[in-house]
Amino acid sequence: MHDALRPLEFLLGTWEGEGRGSYPTIESFRYREEARFWHIGKPFLAYSQRTWSVVDGSPMHSESGYWRPLGDGSLEVVLAHPFGAVEVDRGLIEGATIELASSSVVTTPSAKRIDGVTRKMSVAEGVLSYVFAMAAEDQPLQFHLTAHLERTA
Ligand code: HEM
Repeated sequence: MHDALRPLEFLLGTWEGEGRGSYPTIESFRYREEARFWHIGKPFLAYSQRTWSVVDGSPMHSESGYWRPLGDGSLEVVLAHPFGAVEVDRGLIEGATIELASSSVVTTPSAKRIDGVTRKMSVAEGVLSYVFAMAAEDQPLQFHLTAHLERTA
């Protein structure tokens, strides 16, 4: 592993568990998730996750991208979303907790408008937990997702 990745080493592996989501403009939902962080010896983590419905097993959201620690306790993240959005975040690593805020979310012409997002992620006692908030569809920044995942590999 590249030395620069040490601050993010706690994320490495495959994680599985359950989450729930809501937003004022949609029906609340529950999902299962598999997330994977891996490295190829370079100074970034590769990441992908996929989710599916708890109710009927149908596929839901997925995303993938790269997490890049900068060596001063900060990091930059780029993520691509299948609904026509690219998320560019920056934030801080404090122990096993990461807080990210978007510096820009770029959407394709037909995608829903997303004005900003935040992510808080931490690992404690072998459980990866996150909370995701967004400002979208003319709503102020607020909760969209939370999940708790356990390392399976
Ligand atoms: C675990 C990951 C996620 C799941 C399971 C999930 C699930 C959902 C579901 C079920 C809906 C309502 C139906 C639909 O429009 O498809 C929705 C809406 C939406 N989601 Fe997510 N989502 C996830 C992550 C994200 C992320 C990362 C973003 C932004 C970067 C996002 C942005 C949106 C937007 C903009 C809407 C539309 C809201 C509206 O129509 O008013 N979602 N999501």
